[in-house]
Amino acid sequence: MSILAFLEWVGQTPWSIALHESLYMYPLLESTHVMALGWFVGLAVMFDLRLLGWTFRTVPTTEFTSRLLPWVQAGFAVMFVTGLLLFYAIPVRNYQNIFFRVKMIMLVLAVLNIWYFHNRTERSIGEWDTQARPPQAARVAAVASILLWLSIVVAGRMIAYNWFDCDIQPQSDFINWAAGCVVPLPP
Ligand code: HEM
Repeated sequence: MSILAFLEWVGQTPWSIALHESLYMYPLLESTHVMALGWFVGLAVMFDLRLLGWTFRTVPTTEFTSRLLPWVQAGFAVMFVTGLLLFYAIPVRNYQNIFFRVKMIMLVLAVLNIWYFHNRTERSIGEWDTQARPPQAARVAAVASILLWLSIVVAGRMIAYNWFDCDIQPQSDFINWAAGCVVPLPP
């Protein structure tokens, strides 16, 4: 079974249809997704500004991390769960949405950036914890993080615009490939 066939089946399940056609539940989910965005990305960017040495310069990075990270992780969890439910409500439209695909690729890159920071760069934190301006590796991680989260936000916002939707044909071969459109061959 292809991913598209599986998602077409998911889109026909009663809960997916109910969520998609709901009067209040879908807007409530999307509002929560946007609210969690301010919470999660807002705090993540504050952490990145500390790593750049632009704010909270007298606060040791480990103290900043220990106080902020639980809130950042909680915000991410709310983003992820509400995002999955938004996807579940309209699975085929989202799966074949170029902006959603770009957003997921950048989400993977953002998580890899976080993993590399916590598992590589942060190992030497004992040497720079109280420095007002952390070393280059930490600052590069911060710039990558800010650029990736802002790009994810823009891509997320663009999901609602159907310029490249598969049901609006003709689209260019590249768009049909990138969006995973199944275009019937002319008779
Ligand atoms: C964790 C980081 C995430 C961020 C920063 C983020 C950000 C956003 C933003 C800014 C929007 C536009 C909301 C609006 O103004 O209408 C959005 C929409 C959306 N997001 Fe996310 N998102 C994240 C994770 C996810 C995940 C993990 C999924 C699914 C697997 C997801 C699925 C969606 C969907 C389907 C929409 C479109 C809703 C619609 O327009 O109907 N998001 N996201």
